[in-house]
Amino acid sequence: MSKIPQKDIYVFELGFGTGLNAFLSIIYGIEQNVRIYYETIELYPISKDVWSNLNYGNYKESNYRLFFENLHASEWDTEKFIKISENFYFKKHHSDFLNFNMENNYDVFYFDSFSPDKVPHLWNIEVFKNIYPKLNNNGILTTYCSKGIVKEALRQAGFSVKRIKGLNYKKHIINAVKVQH
Ligand SMILES: C[S@@+](CC[C@H](N)C(=O)[O-])C[C@H]1O[C@@H](n2cnc3c(N)ncnc32)[C@H](O)[C@@H]1O
Repeated sequence: MSKIPQKDIYVFELGFGTGLNAFLSIIYGIEQNVRIYYETIELYPISKDVWSNLNYGNYKESNYRLFFENLHASEWDTEKFIKISENFYFKKHHSDFLNFNMENNYDVFYFDSFSPDKVPHLWNIEVFKNIYPKLNNNGILTTYCSKGIVKEALRQAGFSVKRIKGLNYKKHIINAVKVQH
C-alpha cells in the first residue's frame, strides 16, 4: 500500500534531455516518501523513436517503465502539473530557458545544460543571478560541472559553493546553496 508523502519538494530542471533525472527523481520520491513537484524545460525534445528505445525504465522494477514513458508522452506546456504518481507531479516546458520566467520557488535546481564550453551563454553570472531569487532559503543548485569559472560565477551570483564527491567518472560535482542570513 502506498504511504502518504510526508513532505513536498519543488524541483526545476534545466535540460529535460532523455528524462533520466526526472525518472530517478520519481524513484527517489517513492523511496523517501516525499512528494515532488517537478518542472523541466527543454529546447530540443528528443523524438519518440529515441526515448522509446532507452532502457532506463527497466531500472530497479519493471513497473517503473510506465512512469518513464509517461514523462515523455505527457503534454508540453500545460498550465497545471500532471500527476505521474502519488509522489510525483510534473510540468514540461518546451522553451528556451533564456526567455523563460520561472513561476514557482524551488528547493532544488538541476542545472543540466551541457557544459560551459558548449553553451557559454547559459553558464554565466547573469543566468545564475536570475535563478538565485527563485530558490527557497537553503535551496540548492546542483551541477555536474565543477570548473573554476562556474564556481566563481555562482559565488558572484550569491551562492555558497560546495564541491562534493561525484559518481563514477565524475570526480566532483557542485552544490551551490542559497544561504540567507
Ligand atoms: C546534458 S543534457 C540534459 C540531460 C537530462 N537532464 C537527462 O536527464 O537526460 C542538456 C539538455 O539541455 C537542453 N538545452 C540546452 N540549451 C537549452 C536552453 N537554452 N533551454 C532549454 N534547454 C536547453 C539540450 O537540448 C539538452 O537536451
